[in-house]
Amino acid sequence: MPTIIAILNQKGGVGKTTTAVTLASGLARMGNQVLLIDLDTQGNVADSLGLPHGDDLRRLLSPDLRCTLEQVVTPSGLDHLDVIRSDKSTTALKQTLVGVNLREYILADVLQGSGYDVIALDCAPSVDLLHFVALVAADFLLIPTRLDKLAVNGVRDALQTLAALKRISHCQVAGILPTFYERVTLESHEQLVHLARTFGRLVLPPIPQDTQCRVASRYGKTLWEHEPNAKALIGYDQGSKHIGGYIQVLDRVKELL
Ligand SMILES: Nc1ncnc2c1ncn2[C@@H]1O[C@H](COP(=O)(O)OP(=O)(O)OP(=O)(O)O)[C@@H](O)[C@H]1O
Ligand SMILES: [Mg+2]
Repeated sequence: MPTIIAILNQKGGVGKTTTAVTLASGLARMGNQVLLIDLDTQGNVADSLGLPHGDDLRRLLSPDLRCTLEQVVTPSGLDHLDVIRSDKSTTALKQTLVGVNLREYILADVLQGSGYDVIALDCAPSVDLLHFVALVAADFLLIPTRLDKLAVNGVRDALQTLAALKRISHCQVAGILPTFYERVTLESHEQLVHLARTFGRLVLPPIPQDTQCRVASRYGKTLWEHEPNAKALIGYDQGSKHIGGYIQVLDRVKELL
């Protein structure tokens, strides 16, 4: 059975897609068979991997098309990593699903028994049906959040969405991931402390702010390919250790598999 991880926060631009792509490609580099599913009409997963947009998700979940997972997956071009792309057609998909019985289970059913080790779900920045669909399918929820004044509210909203589904979802919170962390600014640090006081051990070591994230996605490359020494990947030097960065998150995710 695959381990399914939803990357979700109702707030926009907090690093969801960067996190989903970096973790999915990182796990694939370790030899896991990974599927990355884009649940957002923006289609940013395809952009980040240098692929054309596609309606894979609509074809997979439209009850009238009934395509199988094998029929719709797109090879990412990277070893062990497949993707299900999304595009504007996902808007029509959401409208179609409104009238479907047991629609919250539609993705969970399709993914059951798939041959992947890990499936990562990149969610859109709005509460919609596909958030519920993702949280019903997922084993774990990872909540990336920026470190700003409203960050705590955004995380609470995501936790409340999950709590509202507790009768139909077995999903557990894997962690809250602070992103865009600027070690030199007092505001970033204070917000990180505030987040840690509010949510305790759920808060993971932060991902540094790093322009390489934007550059990599502009070239359609993962951070691992574009700049393996990027701060966002390896975190900050602290004595002989590195603190934060996607490598540390990857270690945490591996413990869940
Ligand atoms: N740690 C980081 N440091 C600097 N820039 C980053 C970092 N993480 C992501 N970015 C950049 O910030 C922008 C938003 O990131 P991303 O697309 O991952 O967020 P998102 O939460 O998926 O956004 P949306 O809500 O629109 O789906 C992108 O241009 C991305 O390259
Ligand atoms: Mg995104």
